[in-house]
Amino acid sequence: MDLRHQISSMQTLAGTPCDALLLIVTGTAPDPALAAPLAAVLADALAAGDLTLKAGKTLYLHRPAGVTAPRVVFAAAGTDTVKAFKAAVSSAINQVKASGAKHIAVALAGAGRLTDAHAEAVATAVHECTYVYRHTKPGAAEASKLDKLTLLCGKADAKAVQVGLARGAAVAAGVTLARECANRPANHCTPTYLAEQAKKLGKAYGLKVEVLDRKDCEKLGMGSFLAVARGSSEPLRFIVARYEGAAKSQPPVVLVGKGITFDSGGISLKPGAEMDEMKFDMGGAASVLGTLRAVAELKPKLNLVCIIPSCENMPSGDAVKPGDVVKSMSGQTIEILNTDAEGRLILCDALTYAERFKPAVVVDVATLTGACVVALGHHHSGLFTADDKVAEQMLAASSQGLDPCWRMPLDDEYDEGLKSNFADMGNIGGRAGGAITAAMFLRRFTGKYPWAHLDVAGTAWKSGAAKGSTGRPVALLTHFVLARAV
Ligand code: BES
Ligand code: MN
Ligand code: ZN
Repeated sequence: MDLRHQISSMQTLAGTPCDALLLIVTGTAPDPALAAPLAAVLADALAAGDLTLKAGKTLYLHRPAGVTAPRVVFAAAGTDTVKAFKAAVSSAINQVKASGAKHIAVALAGAGRLTDAHAEAVATAVHECTYVYRHTKPGAAEASKLDKLTLLCGKADAKAVQVGLARGAAVAAGVTLARECANRPANHCTPTYLAEQAKKLGKAYGLKVEVLDRKDCEKLGMGSFLAVARGSSEPLRFIVARYEGAAKSQPPVVLVGKGITFDSGGISLKPGAEMDEMKFDMGGAASVLGTLRAVAELKPKLNLVCIIPSCENMPSGDAVKPGDVVKSMSGQTIEILNTDAEGRLILCDALTYAERFKPAVVVDVATLTGACVVALGHHHSGLFTADDKVAEQMLAASSQGLDPCWRMPLDDEYDEGLKSNFADMGNIGGRAGGAITAAMFLRRFTGKYPWAHLDVAGTAWKSGAAKGSTGRPVALLTHFVLARAV
């Protein structure tokens, strides 16, 4: 997608050369700054009741008189927040994305200001609206013809808009990479495939990428990760990718992504219904790769380490059994009471491995618990951290990236359920507060650095007719990382 900005005014708007002109109306009444002939068209449509200025409403016009563009869409945002603006831009794009339009221009239908956040929203919206999964369905409905977007803005906003478009393009490319990885079925997206994706990023952006195999993990004493991987004949991969944008002495941000490329539950087998969706159980890993791509493209002055423990969770004669006790890389022993609580078992060794980088902060991302979906649904990801400062930074990144998360508790009282008679801890803590006890389990491995955990079980993918990866939380993570540039 060719994304650019162009300086424009209300007087030149109708003469903008493009295939479709998308006009975003932010208020509850038309802005008097909007000039003829567009002002008259809008006033007429409102008077006729063909458009109301409620969030989500759009009006498509074909070849309105006096306008250069053959297609015009008015889209109402309702309010003037960036979130509402993005939703209106998305509705407008959806109106024309299946048309013959190749080049769209987006503008405010009024004198309002555009910020970098607006520009970023436009860039991410156009990619989100036009993405089509084709890898194993090449005959899928043709991807949109849209290949160029111009954001029209006032002269005073041009610099901010340019910065925002660049950031949005990088985030969008990261989101698309995450969606492409996560949408691939488990027989295509294996741990080896994820490692190849990391190596590809390494080549493209000059990153250091290291891929450890089973023997390497054995040497490191990753008994917990190895226990999950042993039930599958698909070889495990432990991926470490490093972006170095600052002096080596600068402590890095470390991202850890759960890379279970298929979660059958193992011997604690899951029920059959919707088990196919467990190919998305590497959504955390995919979002870490996507974030790495976005950051590498934007080249901020900071260091970033991405760690992805990846394997399948399968039942077999070799599989780990309920009651088995394993020794994690940290030295702590774990009684595996339920083999379906495997995410925490692979993450704990990755969290211990992260210590060697002396991180400024570690954030792990995982489709960790069904309980998180029950608690927060599909809108907010679960945020867990004992560090108020990190919580504040994560929440800020979340609102900047329009990628919602909600802070959950982590009080010591929740640790009770992890007690075991046969090991330092069990790997499950009972049904109540399941997302929290999972986070409490991880917390036991994070004593050496500030840490946050994102449970994206409800947000990494959609079920039903729109089944597919969302690419979340790439936007949140990218903003979180970028905010730490020196
Ligand atoms: N990958 C699942 C979590 C999950 C389930 C995400 C459904 C999205 C939808 C995870 O490995 C898992 O199976 N968790 C168990 C934990 C339980 C055994 C303590 C769960 O949530 O049921
Ligand atoms: Mn599981
Ligand atoms: Zn899982």
